[in-house]
Amino acid sequence: MSTNLSRRSFGKRIGAAAIGASAIPTAAELAFAPHAAGQGQPQPDFYKFPDNFRWGCATAAYQVEGGAKEGGRGPSIWDSFSHTPGKTYKNETGDVADDDYHLYKEDIALLKGLGAKIYRFSVSWPRIFPEGTGKPNPQGLDFYSRLVDEMVAAGIDPFCTLFHWDLPQALQDKYGGWQSRETSKAFADYAGYVAEQLSDRVKHFFTINEFSSFIDLGYRTGVFAPGLQLAPAALNQTRHNAVLAHGLAVQAIRAKARPGTKVGLAENFISGTPVFNTEEHIKASELGTRVLNAPYLTVIMEGKYMEQYLEHEGANAPKFTAEDLKVISSPIDVLGINVYNPTYVRADEKHGFAVVPPPSSFPRMASPWLLIGPEGLYWAARHVAQIWGIKDIYVTENGCSSADVIAPDGHVYDTDRVMFLRNYLINLHRAVAEGFPVHGYFVWSLMDNFEWADAYNLRFGIYYVDYKTEKRIPKLSASFYREVIRRNAVV
Ligand code: NOJ
Repeated sequence: MSTNLSRRSFGKRIGAAAIGASAIPTAAELAFAPHAAGQGQPQPDFYKFPDNFRWGCATAAYQVEGGAKEGGRGPSIWDSFSHTPGKTYKNETGDVADDDYHLYKEDIALLKGLGAKIYRFSVSWPRIFPEGTGKPNPQGLDFYSRLVDEMVAAGIDPFCTLFHWDLPQALQDKYGGWQSRETSKAFADYAGYVAEQLSDRVKHFFTINEFSSFIDLGYRTGVFAPGLQLAPAALNQTRHNAVLAHGLAVQAIRAKARPGTKVGLAENFISGTPVFNTEEHIKASELGTRVLNAPYLTVIMEGKYMEQYLEHEGANAPKFTAEDLKVISSPIDVLGINVYNPTYVRADEKHGFAVVPPPSSFPRMASPWLLIGPEGLYWAARHVAQIWGIKDIYVTENGCSSADVIAPDGHVYDTDRVMFLRNYLINLHRAVAEGFPVHGYFVWSLMDNFEWADAYNLRFGIYYVDYKTEKRIPKLSASFYREVIRRNAVV
C-alpha cells in the first residue's frame, strides 16, 4: 500500500465502490452510454477501417413491408405459401410484417440515427407488375420512388435488390415459376423497367438474392415457397433458368439504366473456410469454393459449368446453349456476399478437397443452421477477390438470430449478437487490411422481420420489433453498431 493512501482511506474507497449505489453504473448505463462509462478516457481504436468504408443495414420487401394487398400489389408465391396451413411457424404470414409500407419514413430515420450511409432494400416484383409481366402498376413504383427519396434526403445511398424471393404468383401459375425460361425473360423486363425508373437516384442494383436459398429450399426440399420437390433434372434446369435470368437482367439493366449504374448480384455462395491456414488446406478451400458453387456463382463468374459438376449430374445436367453461357457470365460491376455460417474444408488426396461436417457441439446462434464462424467472412472476401478477381465487393448481409427478450428495464441485451458481429467485423477488418476490395457492409437486419418459414419466431434485427404495436426498440447491438459507425472501427 502506498504511503499516500492510508489503510483507512483505502478501506473507505473500497467500501464506497462496493456499497455506494451512485458509484456503480447500472447495467443500462453501462450498456447504453459506453463513453460515459469510460470516464472520459479515450479508447484506442483498434481495427480502424478506411475513411471511405461504408456502413449500412439490409432488409427485403416481403420480410418487412406488409401492405400485402395495398397499392395494387399482386400476390406473390410467399403470400400463397404462408397462407397454406403448416408451411410457416404458427402459420404466420407477411401480410403486415413490420408495416414498413406505411412506416418507411420512421425506418429511414432509424438508419439515419445509426449513422448508416447505405441501405439495401428490395423491390417487390408483384408491386410493379402484379401479373409478373404486362403493364406496370404506377402505385407500386411510386412507393419505391418515395422510399428512395426519403433515403436520399437522409444522406443514405440506396442499394436495390430486384429479386428477394417474392415471385409473382401469376408466373408460378403460368410457367411453374423458375422452371421455365419464360420467367427468366419476364425478370429481365421487370429489372430493366425498375432500373430505368430509379437509376436517377439508385446507383447500385443487385439482380437476384441467394440462388441456393430460393431454388434449393423452394424447388428441392420444398420448405420455402413454392414448396416443390423436383426431380434432379428438372431442378438443375430450374437452377439454370435462374442464373440465366440474372444474366438477362444484367443486360437489361445496362441497356435501360443511366450510365454509371453498377450492377451485380447478392449471393450466399458456399465459401470454403480452410480447417486451418496451411497452403494445402487453403488450396483445397479455393477448389472447394469453385466446385461447391458450380451451378450458381462459378458459372456466372467463369462462363462455363465445371466438368466435375456436369459429370456428377450426368443425364440430369442442365440443357443449355453456348449463347446461354455468354449471357449468364455477362460482366458484373459489383458482387454482394451474404455471409453467415462457415463451411470448413480440408485437403483431400483423392478429390483435392473435402467438406468437413461440423460436430454437434459446434457453437451456433438461435437458428439451428447458423454456426458461428467469424473467420468465414475473411475467407469469403478473399476467395471472391482471388479466385474470380472481383474488384468491388460489399458484404450485403451478415448478422444473426438471437433469443431476444425485453429486460425488466425495457432494454434488449443481445450480448450474443454483439459478440457475433464484433468477431465477424474483426475478420472483415483483416480482409480489408490485407487489401481485398471490400467497400461496404450491411448488417442483416435493421429490424426483426418475417424470417421466411421461421416467420416471427426468429429475430435477426438490431432493432427489436414489437409486432403488436410495431414499436421498434433499439437492442444493445444497435448501440454497438452506432458506435462502430461513429468510430469507423470495431469496438
Ligand atoms: C439470407 C436472406 O437473404 C434473408 O432473407 C434472411 O432473412 C437471412 N438470410 C437470415 O436467414
